[in-house]
Amino acid sequence: MNHRFHDRDWVENYAETITTRRPERVEAFAHIVKQVQALESDSPTVIELAAGPGLLASALLDGVDGLQYVGVDYSPAMVHFAENKMADYKARCQFLCVDLRKENWAEGLPTQVDAIVSNMALHDLDELKFVEAVYQKSAELLKPGGLFLNAELVVKPESEEDVDGGKAKVGWHLEVLNGLGFEKIECPLDFGHYACIQGHCGKG
Ligand SMILES: C[S@@+](CC[C@H](N)C(=O)[O-])C[C@H]1O[C@@H](n2cnc3c(N)ncnc32)[C@H](O)[C@@H]1O
Repeated sequence: MNHRFHDRDWVENYAETITTRRPERVEAFAHIVKQVQALESDSPTVIELAAGPGLLASALLDGVDGLQYVGVDYSPAMVHFAENKMADYKARCQFLCVDLRKENWAEGLPTQVDAIVSNMALHDLDELKFVEAVYQKSAELLKPGGLFLNAELVVKPESEEDVDGGKAKVGWHLEVLNGLGFEKIECPLDFGHYACIQGHCGKG
């Protein structure tokens, strides 16, 4: 367990400083919002995995009219912070305590959703087998054509190692999505260390 995620002061500091420390997030968030805006639904349901303090939630709810948002995270401190931050959007969003390393993590979540997104987070599951399991379950929760978009910290292409804990190279992510039958699989935004990996659910 990563204890800093459970510390209220750490969470507050993370929420206040992360955009300054990682300014490339601004472009990634704009990209994610644009991809969700492009979905056909007038009121898309979006699940965010390991949502943290609600920073992407804020961008999505501000940027997409009618969006219904469900954010999951295993840290009560993160969930508490996000709920307070997004209190004005209560009618359109909820945050739930969910451990994505558990097999039954998707129980109780909406199904046939329009999009599942995540940002700078799934590597914190620490092992790729958990990331892969999350991808697989996400394919089951999405409606046909639904968007899966993981803006993730990745192993740089020039690195000799392909894997670093829960991080992998972009190609690994694309291959997993391909194996799960996703379509229009691509990485349209790539900062080297941080990349948007996405695809549309091909079932149906
Ligand atoms: C680096 S933070 C990113 C937070 C947020 N996505 C963002 O970009 O601001 C990683 C997040 O993953 C969450 N996390 C780590 N392990 C998790 C797990 N097993 N299940 C659910 N969430 C987890 C942490 O609590 C934390 O909120």
